[in-house]
Amino acid sequence: MLQVKRSSAPLGAEILGVDLSRDLDDAVFREIVDRFHEHEVVFFRNQQLTPEQHVAFSRRFGELEHHVRKDCCRPGFPELFVVSNVLENGKPIGSQDAGLFWHSDLCYLKEPSRASLFYAREVPLDAKGKPVGDTMFASGSAAYAALPEPEKRKLANLKAVNSYAKGYYRDRNSGARKPLTEEQKKRTPDVEHPIVRTHPFTGKKSLFVNEGYTSSVVGMSERESDALLARLFEHCTRPEFVYRHQWRVGDFLMWDNCSTQHRAVMDYALPQRRLMERATLCGTAPI
Ligand code: SIN
Repeated sequence: MLQVKRSSAPLGAEILGVDLSRDLDDAVFREIVDRFHEHEVVFFRNQQLTPEQHVAFSRRFGELEHHVRKDCCRPGFPELFVVSNVLENGKPIGSQDAGLFWHSDLCYLKEPSRASLFYAREVPLDAKGKPVGDTMFASGSAAYAALPEPEKRKLANLKAVNSYAKGYYRDRNSGARKPLTEEQKKRTPDVEHPIVRTHPFTGKKSLFVNEGYTSSVVGMSERESDALLARLFEHCTRPEFVYRHQWRVGDFLMWDNCSTQHRAVMDYALPQRRLMERATLCGTAPI
């Protein structure tokens, strides 16, 4: 039995006593999967992982995505998307402004990601030594469960458009993002997903819209669609559905992209360095 410490939020739990650099036996791995499905966000402190070990552990869950922004992947590791404000020889080593708005990873693909596995290599500190650059996670299943029944019925058969371009161009920091290439555009056409999604493993229902990439509701006028989405974005990210993770170097944290959304808090700047690496699991078309 793994030792688990829950957060006070409806999602988020620490799993203690596991060294992810080791070849975990199947029983331990299965329990990690179960705890992950139960808590939607789980993390392990004090991990010391090589990029190979990060990829190897992540692969046990399934196939890994190669991000559409190849220039942001760790050299030699197309499965590791680098999120960092660090510059080397004046050039960014990864995405400097990833995830500054609420989103679910790769929700703009026909088959969005099942989960992301994030490893903290460098964490910025404020003048008092307190970590900054937290990540906030919101539970779409808790948000769905809290809706009144008539609202659930109204949303049951609605679909929304998810657009990579909407998120990509949204929070460009000082022009850091180049225009999308033709190949990137071809890989990311707009897609439609159900607004209420059934989790592929737990069968639980969640709200699957986010302010970063969800652009409109299918079959509604612009006014009606904007009003509904604004209401849902606000509802999904209410404080009572949110777990805020304060990072420490060596944290390895997994989040469920089917039932949660997240947002990075940009409250630091160089010379405060932040260096994170993300493996992103492939997923299935939402139903
Ligand atoms: C991401 O959305 O993958 C980045 C999250 C973070 O940097 O905290």
